[in-house]
Amino acid sequence: MRNYLVAGNWKMNGDMASNRELVAGIVAGAPDTDRVKLLICPPFPYLAAMAQATADSTVVVGAQSVSEHASGAYTGEVSPQMLLDCGCEYAIVGHSERRSLYLESSAAVASKFKAALEAGLRPILCVGESLEEREAGSTEAVIDEQLNAVLDTVGVAGLETAVIAYEPVWAIGTGMTATPEQAQEVHKHIRGVLAGHDAAIAESTQILYGGSMKGENAAGLLAMPDIDGGLIGGASLKSADFLAIAEAAAQG
Ligand code: PGA
Repeated sequence: MRNYLVAGNWKMNGDMASNRELVAGIVAGAPDTDRVKLLICPPFPYLAAMAQATADSTVVVGAQSVSEHASGAYTGEVSPQMLLDCGCEYAIVGHSERRSLYLESSAAVASKFKAALEAGLRPILCVGESLEEREAGSTEAVIDEQLNAVLDTVGVAGLETAVIAYEPVWAIGTGMTATPEQAQEVHKHIRGVLAGHDAAIAESTQILYGGSMKGENAAGLLAMPDIDGGLIGGASLKSADFLAIAEAAAQG
């Protein structure tokens, strides 16, 4: 049986004082069960401090992005090894804000995934369609293109320690959540694509839902058979809101 992963994507929010307060609240209220793992993804400058703050807890730390390069003249970039040095276990790759605002192509995302994996990080691959793409009936084609770029680069074995996050772009930060049935349909499709390569990996890979997930809608989403947790933006910025989702997972 797959366990739940409840991940907070803090995006570019907070300062040292507020982030220390946030992490302390999360550590204090983390559910005491192996069924649910909590992950926080703070901005780069706070990673090391947040890793220290979670060191004696079950909460783990990840980055919001990662360079595809190991070192060199890449001003402003952060390598996988640097993230490991800061105490990261995970790195998000291909978040829709990176794809749309910083023009990261599926090929670039696949390179980042590969670099993260080879360094020993667990990549969280974000995939998802825009509203126009959904309305045009191309949701599955968009997901397949994003997923296949990674599968072609690392093979299905590269998914063994990774996580996938289905984040419909129209649901991110909009308050418009996918219904549990809409999300389940895509999650099932993603697992089906993986199963076409390797049944065991398809069965064990955690697939998170992301897009306006909050305490009030988490239980319905997490009750779906192929939804194994959440990637949470807005509702991860207050410990009570984040813990409400963690609690829904613990009850699920
Ligand atoms: P949201 O963001 O929960 O604020 O919609 C999710 C995400 O972008 O990962």
